[in-house]
Amino acid sequence: MALYRLIYVSQAVSGIGYLDLIDIMQKSEKNNMPVGITGMLSFGDSMFLQVLEGSRRTVCQTYNRILGDKRHVNPELIEFTEIDHREFGLWSMKAVQIDNHPEIRNTLLKYSYSTTFSPYSMTGNQCLSFLHEIMGIYQNK
Ligand SMILES: Cc1cc2nc3c(=O)[nH]c(=O)nc-3n(C[C@H](O)[C@H](O)[C@H](O)COP(=O)(O)O)c2cc1C
Repeated sequence: MALYRLIYVSQAVSGIGYLDLIDIMQKSEKNNMPVGITGMLSFGDSMFLQVLEGSRRTVCQTYNRILGDKRHVNPELIEFTEIDHREFGLWSMKAVQIDNHPEIRNTLLKYSYSTTFSPYSMTGNQCLSFLHEIMGIYQNK
């Protein structure tokens, strides 16, 4: 069956913090695992950047459910594409916080115009490379 990858960005509503991120990650792990969705959710500077991988149907169903969540607004689809293989297959949904750790901010600067997390202005390739590198950092932690 064809595999798809979806990347989107959205803005967290005010008051969203680390505990919400944990709640989202726990729900995501519970829901994503049985339907074969893998991916990563990054959160920082009041922005979410998420990548979802799986079958076209399950990626679309999951994305549609996420769009209805009141914890974020202004979602923008960055990429929806057929892929040969998964990049984030180890994680049913890994949530990572884009904090002020120098390694994270340096990676951000590598793929965007400043060290502020502003994925609305990043290309699909930049987002993917950024998430990929962040995954490497967290795998070694
Ligand atoms: C930024 C963001 C990302 C989310 N990602 C996922 C996800 O990957 N999978 C998922 O099932 N729910 C995700 N959610 C939560 C869903 O919007 C929804 O609350 C949840 O799926 C409901 O699960 P339940 O019906 O088991 O309570 C996300 C929410 C937000 C705000």
